[in-house]
Amino acid sequence: MRRYLNSEAETVDFASEFAKRIKPGMVCALHGDLGAGKSVFARALMRALGVRDVAMPSPTFAIIQEYEGRNCRIAHMDWYRLSDPDELEAIGVREYMQPPWVCLIEWPERGAELLPPDTVHIHLHCTDVHHPERRRIEID
Ligand SMILES: Nc1ncnc2c1ncn2[C@@H]1O[C@H](COP(=O)(O)OP(=O)(O)OP(=O)(O)O)[C@@H](O)[C@H]1O
Ligand SMILES: [Mg+2]
Repeated sequence: MRRYLNSEAETVDFASEFAKRIKPGMVCALHGDLGAGKSVFARALMRALGVRDVAMPSPTFAIIQEYEGRNCRIAHMDWYRLSDPDELEAIGVREYMQPPWVCLIEWPERGAELLPPDTVHIHLHCTDVHHPERRRIEID
C-alpha cells in the first residue's frame, strides 16, 4: 500500500484509520529519516487506540515508553540512541512483541535482527522540497 499525506492532519487521520488494523501482539516498524513523521504517526495511532496520556517527545525519551490503550498495552520504542542491538535483549524487548502488547518502533533498523518475521513495516518519506508537509507512506 502506498499513498500521499499532504499535511500533518492527513497523517493523523491516516494513523487513526490504520489503528483499526492493530491487534495485540503486532509489531510495527516505523522507518524514515529524522523529522519524517514517525512520532506524529505513532502518537496519533496511540490516541486512536485509547491512550490518553501520550507524552510529548522530550530529551529524556527512553528507549521504551509504556502506555495503556483500551484493549491493549502499547510500547513506543525509539532505538535511535542504541549503541548495540544486544542492549535490546537485555532490556527485554521480546516481552513487548507479544500480546497484550502492541509494539511501535522508531529506527527499527538499529536492531533489525530483533524484529519478528511478521513485523508490519511502515515507511515515511519526505518527497518534495516544494511541499514540506507532504509525505509518502508505504506499508508492507
Ligand atoms: N504530513 C506530515 N506528517 C507528519 N509530520 C509532518 C507532516 N508535515 C509536517 N510534519 C512535521 O514534521 C515533523 C515530524 O516530526 P516527528 O517527530 O514525528 O519525526 P520523527 O520521524 O519521529 O523524527 P525522529 O527520527 O527525530 O524521531 C513534525 O514537526 C511535524 O509537524
Ligand atoms: Mg520520533
